[in-house]
Amino acid sequence: MLVINRIRNAAILSLRNAYIRNCLSNEIRAATNSTRTFSLGLALRQQDVVNVTFVRANGEKIKSSGKVGDSLLDVVVNNNVDLDGFGACEGTLTCSTCHLIFKEADYEKLPEKPGDEELDMLDLAYELTDTSRLGCQITLTKDMDGLEVQVPATINDARAA
Ligand code: FES
Repeated sequence: MLVINRIRNAAILSLRNAYIRNCLSNEIRAATNSTRTFSLGLALRQQDVVNVTFVRANGEKIKSSGKVGDSLLDVVVNNNVDLDGFGACEGTLTCSTCHLIFKEADYEKLPEKPGDEELDMLDLAYELTDTSRLGCQITLTKDMDGLEVQVPATINDARAA
């Protein structure tokens, strides 16, 4: 009887150890996978970041950033960039308060030209230039990383007219 108990206890101990080893290896695998996912996510996030600088009329520079697919209005809103009255219509193309002036080289590289609605709204903006665009209509691409845009000294909320 003593021998049978010893064999049974040894078998139980062996099964328990195998179970613990299996649990531990699953834990380690899960931890490794989550680390990989985290690293990959971080890498993707860094690739998606687009740095943008807003330059006030007085020359003050406000550094900010968004991600690929954001509009310049999103960048202002998401980062609480302090631009008084900017984006009053929340991107519905009815205010022109998101007027921004691009450097000529940057303007030429913009992937999309302004549509008729944007041009109509730009006509109502103060300090209009040949390289003016509405921030709510500009979608960030990775190529725009490092973009610097001028913020006009005055804005016109076309809805107030
Ligand atoms: S936010 Fe109003 S036109 Fe862009």
